[in-house]
Order: sequence, then structure tokens, then C-alpha cells
Amino acid sequence: MKGSFITFEGCEGVGKTTQVDRLRRYLDESGQKALFLREPGGTAISEKIRAMILSKENDKMNGKCEALLYSAARAQLLGEVVAPALEDGTTVVCDRFTDSTFAYQGAARGLGTDFIDALNRLTCGDIVPDLTIFLDMPPRKAFARKGGADKNDRLESQSIEFHEKVYAGYKEVASMYPQRIVCIDASKDADGVWEDVIAVIRARTRVR
Ligand SMILES: Nc1ncnc2c1ncn2[C@@H]1O[C@H](COP(=O)(O)OP(=O)(O)OP(=O)(O)O)[C@@H](O)[C@H]1O
Ligand SMILES: [Mg+2]
Repeated sequence: MKGSFITFEGCEGVGKTTQVDRLRRYLDESGQKALFLREPGGTAISEKIRAMILSKENDKMNGKCEALLYSAARAQLLGEVVAPALEDGTTVVCDRFTDSTFAYQGAARGLGTDFIDALNRLTCGDIVPDLTIFLDMPPRKAFARKGGADKNDRLESQSIEFHEKVYAGYKEVASMYPQRIVCIDASKDADGVWEDVIAVIRARTRVR
């Protein structure tokens, strides 16, 4: 039986990695086969592309270049890692995936819904997440909780207006794909969010 494909999405600092780590522990302790990936990255080639995208030296990079680089990293990850793992019955969990491209490059950098939807389809084919958890919290609130943005990360040091556009992009994609994307209130404490996360995962995927 094919494994479940689960992705986590949301603005910076909303608690994606915190919840992904909890899921890792949960699956590990219950002895369920799982693979955890981060986007962009997850293969040697994809990690090189990640460094190129995030480097401050590349502040002249335009939106289309950035979107295509994300897709290039993703194509490699899907072919080399995700597809074989799912075929093998492994649960695959990704910290950010296609909806990040939609929110960041589509909405915030203005490439638009049609371009990103087409790009995501070309890149992924039929490898679509069974469930996407959108950790819903506006960027101002997330940054305040985190104690400010990371100045060394090119994307995080963008203006708050940029992140508001990212958030609006997430809201848009969530309304376009309500079957796949489940919105979870990320403003609760980490235990409260986790209760909601694992309940949705158990209800919607093969994870037990
Ligand atoms: N529900 C929560 N309540 C309060 N603080 C939280 C909660 N979840 C995570 N945090 C804290 O907020 C910070 C950011 O969390 P985390 O790194 O998980 O977010 P993220 O969405 O992965 O961020 P990024 O987009 O930067 O990768 C961390 O210091 C974490 O401990
Ligand atoms: Mg993170």
C-alpha cells in the first residue's frame, strides 16, 4: 500500500518545524515508517539549489528565477526520494512544499496563480500531498512570538508587507484546495496545536 504524503505550510515562525518534530517523535515511538524532508532541499543537488536561493549574495534574483529554482530542487527531490518512498509504503512528511511556492513566488513576488499552478503541475505530476496542514497565524503575530526575524536569511529579512502578501497567498490557496488543505489555528500553545495536528492526520491519512 502506498504511503501517505503530508506537508506543513505557513508563514515564518508559526511552528511548522515544532509540529513536524513532534510528528517525527510520534511516528518513531509508534514504530511507523516515515521520512522527513525539508523544502527546498532533501537531496545533495536540491541542497545546493537551496543555498543559492537563500544566499544574501543573490539579492538580484528575480521572482521567476526563484520560482524555477524551487521547482528544480523539488523535481530532483520527488524523483530521487519522494516517489520511491511512497511506493515503498513510507509516510513522507515535508516542511513546506508547493503551497510555499504559491504564497511566496505566486502571491508575494507577483508571478500569479496561473503561472505557479502550471509550474507546480509540471513539476509534481501526480505526486500531490494527501494532506496539507496550514498553520494559520498572521506574520506580525508570528514574528512577535519568535522575537523578530532572522536577519541572515534573505527571505526572512523582507519587509512585513511582503509577509502579509505571503499570508494572503496561503489563504487563497487554502480556499482553492479545501479538500487537501486543512487550516489549523497556530496561535494556541505547542501542545494545543499538536492535539489538532495529530487528530487531523489520524482522521485523514494512514498514520495511526
Ligand atoms: N504554539 C507555539 N506557541 C509558542 N511558541 C511556539 C509555538 N510553536 C513554536 N513556537 C516557537 O516559535 C519559534 C518558531 O517555531 P518554528 O521554528 O517551529 O517555526 P517555523 O514555522 O518552522 O519557522 P520557519 O518558517 O522560520 O522555519 C520557536 O522558537 C518555537 O519554539
Ligand atoms: Mg521551520
